[in-house]
Amino acid sequence: MSKKNIGTVIVDEDNSPNPEQFSFVLTKTEEEFQLQKGMYVVVPTEDGEVLASVIELFKTNRYFSSPSAVRAYETSGKTLASIFPADRWEHIIAKAKPLGIITEIGIQRLLFPVSPGENVSIPDNDTLIQFLGLEKDNGLNLGMIEQHDLTVKLNLTKFLQKHAAILAISGAGKSYTVSVLLEELLSRKAEQGRVAIVLFDVHGEYKGMGDDKSPYKKYVNVFPGGLIQFATSSMSARQFSIYEPQITTVQTRDLSKILSQFYKDKVKQGETYVIGDIIEALEKDEQLNPRSREALIGWLYTLNNTRLFGSAENPDLKSILKPGKITIFDLSDFTSIKLKQMLVSYILFRIFDMRKKNEVPPTTIILEEAHQFVPEARLDQAISRSIIETIAREGRKFFTSLVLVSQRPVKLSTTVLSQCNTHVIMRILNPYDLDYIGRSSEGIDRSTMNSITSLGVGEAIIVGNAVNHPIFVKVRKRKTSTLETQTLEESAKNFDS
Ligand SMILES: Nc1ncnc2c1ncn2[C@@H]1O[C@H](COP(=O)(O)OP(=O)(O)OP(=O)(O)O)[C@@H](O)[C@H]1O
Ligand SMILES: [Mg+2]
Repeated sequence: MSKKNIGTVIVDEDNSPNPEQFSFVLTKTEEEFQLQKGMYVVVPTEDGEVLASVIELFKTNRYFSSPSAVRAYETSGKTLASIFPADRWEHIIAKAKPLGIITEIGIQRLLFPVSPGENVSIPDNDTLIQFLGLEKDNGLNLGMIEQHDLTVKLNLTKFLQKHAAILAISGAGKSYTVSVLLEELLSRKAEQGRVAIVLFDVHGEYKGMGDDKSPYKKYVNVFPGGLIQFATSSMSARQFSIYEPQITTVQTRDLSKILSQFYKDKVKQGETYVIGDIIEALEKDEQLNPRSREALIGWLYTLNNTRLFGSAENPDLKSILKPGKITIFDLSDFTSIKLKQMLVSYILFRIFDMRKKNEVPPTTIILEEAHQFVPEARLDQAISRSIIETIAREGRKFFTSLVLVSQRPVKLSTTVLSQCNTHVIMRILNPYDLDYIGRSSEGIDRSTMNSITSLGVGEAIIVGNAVNHPIFVKVRKRKTSTLETQTLEESAKNFDS
């Protein structure tokens, strides 16, 4: 292992070195080496190398440690530095937290302290890649750990077999990070393993990916939300009752009977049906309680008025879900949140059903403004909630993963957020959101939490399943400028011209 020796472990007042912490003095000058908070260091032991991260950094100088002496000298008209070789006594001391020890049998928790006097050095990138659980070649390149000049390539399975959440305030770079992720997913070759991708584009920001000038054009299918049609015959009575929550349990049962009959009489013969057919059958059914039947018919009319329910599905989801391809559902023309939830719900029901039957490839679903589709507040009856929660719980077994994007984590369902095994956390300022994230992100420690507020645009902390330890990533520049974002000036000029 090639190493850069930068310091020596010292004994300090906090009873360190101990298994949780040690301090070291930087033996290189600041010109030779600039140590920064968050950097990784290694220390040799008999059992293997201990890898640690720098959690605190301070300067000390014993000439300046006595306030009264400093004051006495400085008021006498002379500086301390002009009388004593004070500058030679300035040191940088770092506190580091051991993350583990690399032994012959793998990475283990450190149960003993490193020794005072040991050399502290900077690990080479191969060691870091192994230790942090990153990929060398095959992974998804999201950016850099800048201090180590290390490219962060996440393992596809570790990142997307389970679910992920991208959380930050508005403008922190969530959508930008999504577009970097998309570039990575769409650039994969068949032999590297490719998932099908579905993205719900609430603001119409991503449709540029399908433009003629986009290098990804041939992998991208942008589908206008207004053209989406549900195959009524694919829907269960329960789904109807989710779309119209006022449908009662008894009515759901009645509806279910009719749909079973339709399945035998129509679907099995290769025929389809629409809501109008269901209403007709209900009207003919003498056995049903008339009042309940009338109410159910009323609700079905309401659903029919959305114009979403057709005889055939558009687009045909089975044929558009292809490995290495993305379908972007552009929902930007919809103002009704309820309609958007219905669309998301239908498409997710279908995808999950087809995944269970292995009719479509493993699929990753990216949902912007996720808190609108799976809100935490129970009162907020989000139509899309139950299917998203189902996929969050069971999706892993069927290789259906969610990437939820939200600027209001507190408003996002706890059930779902706790199933997101990897969190990509960008700048967050709201104390409630921070507290919520602290409680729902596994393996995030105090010092990592504290740095969330100081992240800049495009900087992220990745914690959870995709990495062995929380890492700080500067998200890379995207290769295309397809994400549509306008400045206020541009938007004002466009409107005026
Ligand atoms: N990694 C990055 N590199 C360079 N610029 C970036 C990066 N990430 C974000 N930006 C800049 O920040 C702007 C805002 O980013 P983005 O639109 O992704 O924010 P957002 O978190 O999705 O916000 P919102 O919640 O409002 O949708 C982008 O237009 C881009 O100019
Ligand atoms: Mg965004």
